[in-house]
Amino acid sequence: MSDVETKEAVYVTDQLIADDIDAYLVQHEHKTMLRFITCGSVDDGKSTLIGRLLYDSKMIFEDQLDALQSDSKKVGTQGQEIDFALLVDGLAAEREQGITIDVAYRFFNTEKRKFIVADCPGHEQYTRNMVTGASTADLAVILIDARKGVLVQTRRHSYLCHLIGIKNIVLAVNKMDLVDYSQDVFDRIVEEYGAFAREIGIESFTALPISGFKGDNITTLSDKTPWYKATQYAGITLVEHLETVEVLSSVDADKPFRLPVQWVNRPNLDFRGFSGLIATGSVRAGDKIRVLPSGKTSTITRVVTYDGDLEEAVAGQSVTVCFADEIDCSRGSVISIADNPPQTADQFEATFVWMADEAMVPGRAYWLKVGTQMVSATVQEPKYEVNVNTMEKLAAKTLELNAIGVAELTTDKQIVFEAYADNRTLGGFILIDKMTNATVAAGMIHFSLRRSQNVHWQAVDIDRKQHAGLKNQRPAVLWFTGLSGSGKSTIANLVEKKLHRMNRHTFLLDGDNVRHGLNKDLGFTEADRIENIRRVGEVSKLMTDAGLIVITAFISPFQADREMVRSMLPEGEFFEVFIDTPLKVAEARDVKGLYKKARSGELKNFTGIDSPYEAPRNPEIRIDTTVISPEEAANLIVDTLLGDA
Ligand code: ADX
Repeated sequence: MSDVETKEAVYVTDQLIADDIDAYLVQHEHKTMLRFITCGSVDDGKSTLIGRLLYDSKMIFEDQLDALQSDSKKVGTQGQEIDFALLVDGLAAEREQGITIDVAYRFFNTEKRKFIVADCPGHEQYTRNMVTGASTADLAVILIDARKGVLVQTRRHSYLCHLIGIKNIVLAVNKMDLVDYSQDVFDRIVEEYGAFAREIGIESFTALPISGFKGDNITTLSDKTPWYKATQYAGITLVEHLETVEVLSSVDADKPFRLPVQWVNRPNLDFRGFSGLIATGSVRAGDKIRVLPSGKTSTITRVVTYDGDLEEAVAGQSVTVCFADEIDCSRGSVISIADNPPQTADQFEATFVWMADEAMVPGRAYWLKVGTQMVSATVQEPKYEVNVNTMEKLAAKTLELNAIGVAELTTDKQIVFEAYADNRTLGGFILIDKMTNATVAAGMIHFSLRRSQNVHWQAVDIDRKQHAGLKNQRPAVLWFTGLSGSGKSTIANLVEKKLHRMNRHTFLLDGDNVRHGLNKDLGFTEADRIENIRRVGEVSKLMTDAGLIVITAFISPFQADREMVRSMLPEGEFFEVFIDTPLKVAEARDVKGLYKKARSGELKNFTGIDSPYEAPRNPEIRIDTTVISPEEAANLIVDTLLGDA
């Protein structure tokens, strides 16, 4: 999938989700919605509790299901089974990208509220499921078996819920019937949990003695726990609590206005509106707004929805707004209240939850989706990993599946953001693998790193255009890639000689040579190769700024890194030249005797032997060295370059 297609997919998904939630909301318009997550294992009585809630509320979601199903057809899922994950906007993209996340969503409602409950498996290896389920939750029910008390998994679940930013924690001490409804048992568990909760920063929680099996204190107060009324939790039933606790959207509505733009709505020349889901705050006609990252200001003239213009719209609503002035605003922009805008930055500290089978590769470029923004980003080696059972901080070189860690994140452009603690939409993100399009991580921004704001670009008077102009040429990078011994250096050398004879100003950067100087600190691990290519990319870019035609000869085995270099350069200046020599041919030549060493195990991580080579998919130039000579190859490359130039 190309970059553009990926973005389309993500935006389309966002809209499907927004529409489906709207459809659901319309059915119970007068009611607020609470999303919650249940944490615990089957042994703790989780299924029984959920079953009890559904049964007691007598409102299993069948009719609404039908409505949802037809609605999702209407908006374009075309006859597929309704996918409940549609209702979960937090990790929207992973549905498109086909990671199976094992979370079941159930719907029910009572007189006062409607509910979506995310039910996630409780085992340790399911961190990613839990984080997915929790990412949109207002509340978490942490189930404890009264006979067992606070367990390692109770701690893990609480930590994850706190990490995701769930403010309402319910400690449901279940199976009270099996401990004779003993207040002592309840008090002891609450005390122990309280000490742990304070340690990890949970400020408050609500504890209830329940029995999912017998129905005690679920919908009606139990006469078996008369003492419960006198506790600080005042004898409230679970359902009462769920019905009255403050939901996120009402908390969000009180924050400053932020609308991440999903698309520009321009049906005809008379109308130009900007559509999206309001993340926080509220908006009305007449409000002064600022569009980020440009910082341009204007005034809201209309707040439009399907049902006509609104006087005011609040967090959680999908709207289209119009401006008084024709200012720049597009997909990924954030519309904010004028006098209290979010920040922009390109370097951050963040927590990552790794969700892919392949471990994180520090330095690799991933797509980062934050709100409706999609940019290229790299992650540094983690500062530490957190042991989710003990909360210990451990040293780590990478993050594996289900690991949680803190690392620095760098984006290739400034993004509009807020700390996750203040704004889940503008502070929460997902990382997408550029090759497979799979969601590999979810994360939360802590803060931006100052240095990104304090290092400014220095404007110079003699710019790249003037440098190139004096040399009377268009700068370019001819990026050779191929196996060791494929013929990169030989052909690159011929190309440079030819161009030199034609009075072109060139420079050849060769892998073996650069590794003697600039990159002599780097070896051949994946991370070192990525850094090798990053540096060579930066040097090439500087050389094109100086007006040169740069020729590089590096194995550069990873597609993502070659694409990273491509994205550093202006459109049309990067030529990927694939020197396509089959492994057996390169190995037969074995000019430097390295294949032999690699085969005998003397040399580790050798490309093609025990380290991968990702062939270019769409190189500008492909040279099959089994059919043409180095001379012919050089001619072809020069012709392509100058023909295009
Ligand atoms: S890259 O993978 O990081 O792009 P680069 O092109 O700089 O590699 O260096 C490759 C050259 O280093 C090879 O042509 C070979 O001479 C030498 N070399 C030494 N060890 C290795 C290795 N393990 N894998 C590949 N090349 C190696």
